[in-house]
Amino acid sequence: MTTAPPGLSTRIESMREYQQFAQFYDAVMGDGSSRSARILEAIGRCNVDATSLLELGCGTGSVLEGLVSIPRLVGLDASVEMLSFATTKVPSAEFVLGDMTDFNLGTTFDVVACVFDTVNHLVNYESWESMFKGVTRHLEPGGLFVFDLNTTGRLHQFVASPPWVHDFDGNTLIMDVRSDGDEVANWDIRVFAPAGDGMFTLHRENIRELGVALDTVRTTLATDFDLLHEEDDSGVPPTDESSRAHFVYRRRG
Ligand SMILES: C[S@@+](CC[C@H](N)C(=O)[O-])C[C@H]1O[C@@H](n2cnc3c(N)ncnc32)[C@H](O)[C@@H]1O
Repeated sequence: MTTAPPGLSTRIESMREYQQFAQFYDAVMGDGSSRSARILEAIGRCNVDATSLLELGCGTGSVLEGLVSIPRLVGLDASVEMLSFATTKVPSAEFVLGDMTDFNLGTTFDVVACVFDTVNHLVNYESWESMFKGVTRHLEPGGLFVFDLNTTGRLHQFVASPPWVHDFDGNTLIMDVRSDGDEVANWDIRVFAPAGDGMFTLHRENIRELGVALDTVRTTLATDFDLLHEEDDSGVPPTDESSRAHFVYRRRG
């Protein structure tokens, strides 16, 4: 059984994904400054006076770290291992161990963010719908929902690509993405870490992502939100073949 670090509100038991990868996450993924900058740009573009922000699936806190100009920051994540890095990285934020498909923080925010294909980690579409309802409940009327996703086309590309091998900090990472069917891509992640005397410890984990057609997502969100902006990585309107789709929605008043 995992326990939450001191100072962390606990809503669920930690989930199993990211238990192994958490310790290597920042070294492999780099910092989150470009993701923070995109959120700040959306807030500026939409003229929102953002005094509070909730990040769903905040991971190691790399995005929240770049948002500390916003007075009240809350990060929610299902992995106690990821949150243990976040609490150190962004001591001014509040962190909650919880499930973004089923959460009730008893408060609302000016902005809710969910970035770096975190929503894709929910591997059935009913969970996306539950998560979107949770966002509606936790947003002030007129508040912003900023999120991104890996498109179906991008996930197909990952599956078709050879494994990615990456050396970092004396470790070797092998990341192989295969199809689990039904638009689910499965990242088989192996990190070989030196254990002395020429031996290595293998840290292995599988992380799955669901691809969903952009129009399905747009239709779901149209009930409670107005679409303010959408773009792909190069700034043009996204399609199901884009690498990533970035969205900014406003909760209707
Ligand atoms: C790709 S990481 C992104 C972390 C962070 N947003 C960033 O940009 O660096 C995805 C995160 O989503 C979290 N996550 C996955 N499913 C979740 C769920 N159902 N509820 C809460 N967090 C979840 C994982 O633990 C992980 O930290």
